[in-house]
Formats: sequence, structure tokens, C-alpha cells
Amino acid sequence: MPDITQQTVIAIQAALLSWFKAESRQLPWRTTTDPYAIMVSEVMLQQTQVDRVIPVYLAFLKQFPSFQSLADAPAADVIRSWAGMGYNRRALNLQRAAAQVAGLYEGVLPSDPPTLRGLPGVGEYTAAALACFALGQQVVVIDTNVRRVLSRVFYGPEGAPENELANVATQALPEGEAWSWNQGLMDLGATICKSRRPICLLCPLRSDCKSAGPFMSTNGA
Ligand code: ADE
Repeated sequence: MPDITQQTVIAIQAALLSWFKAESRQLPWRTTTDPYAIMVSEVMLQQTQVDRVIPVYLAFLKQFPSFQSLADAPAADVIRSWAGMGYNRRALNLQRAAAQVAGLYEGVLPSDPPTLRGLPGVGEYTAAALACFALGQQVVVIDTNVRRVLSRVFYGPEGAPENELANVATQALPEGEAWSWNQGLMDLGATICKSRRPICLLCPLRSDCKSAGPFMSTNGA
């Protein structure tokens, strides 16, 4: 961790969690605890924007409501329901993953990370997202948005050295709050701590952020 006190970490955690409670986006995969639905959402979100994912996600779940139903569907139907998302290989991998969960694990998403990562189309990011969002594990989930937010907050506009970020993310994870923390970091990155023009004036972390000062002065904010 760069020179940041535990007190600051605690303040950042509290500020993000209370902002997330008040301001979080209402996204359909956040109101379910069904691991299958969460897995569908995470695979869709790998390369497609939230707005485009929502309608396809809802229709897809209606058509294929479970690991088993997706496993049993003709591949052509699965591809058709994936329309608008691009990268059709993701859909076929998702179907193969569903077949493995249904066939090898009795329809229960495996909970250990190496087995999760062994599922087709599940890389390090998706395994972590499933562990946290579908299985309730207290782990960090680092996607592009999360990486940018943590990097700015803890290091400044130059960002974190690549090999330090996972460590910092782990130290910043608030105990027992991984779900809200990770979803909150994603929301902050998508809506306020945006790549090009962060809106620091609206940010709940601005008073403790190592980048807020520099960005506010170059931003005209
Ligand atoms: N991108 C990847 N996972 C996400 C999630 N759970 N909510 C919003 N955006 C995401």
C-alpha cells in the first residue's frame, strides 16, 4: 500500500459503501442470488456495455432459465438469443460451461476458484466475479473500472504499478462487504470516475483521493 493510513482506508470504505447504498444503479443481476443468472450476466458484461446487456440478459433468462435448459438448447437458438452482443464464441462457451455445471456438478456452480476457472470462457476476472457475486465469497473483483478507480484513489493520476494493484485491492477490501464494495467500485468507475472526464465534484471519495486535486484543476470541474 502506498503511504495511506488505515484510517483513510476506513474512511474510503465507509464513503463508497454509503454512496453505493444511496446511488447504486438498479441492475437486474443485482436483485437475484441465482448463480446461473449471475453467470449469464458476467459473461455478457465481459465485452458489452451495461445498457446493451440488460434487454438481452432478460430475454435470454426467459428463454434459458437454468444451466440445464441452456445445456439442452440447440446451439443455433443460443446464438440467436445472443444477437446484439457480438463475440458469439462467448455464447457457445457459456453453453459449454452450463453443460459442465449441469453434467459434472449436478447443477451447482463449483465454489473453488481453480474449478471455476476450468469452465469454458471463465478467466481470472469472471472467476472472481462469480466467487463474489454468485457465491458470496470475500474476494476482490478487478475489472477495468475497478482498476482505474483504485489506482486513482490510492496512487494518483499516474496510476498504480501493475504488480501492486491486486495487493492494494486486497488491503482495501472491507470485511464482510465484498459484494457491495465490488459492485460499488464498478458503479463509481462507470458513472463518476470515468476514464476520460472524471466528475470529481460528485465523487464520494474526493476528499481522500490522490487524484481528485489534479483532476479537478485540469478538468475545469
Ligand atoms: N461489469 C461486470 N460486472 C458488472 C456488474 N455486476 N455490474 C455492473 N457492471 C459490471
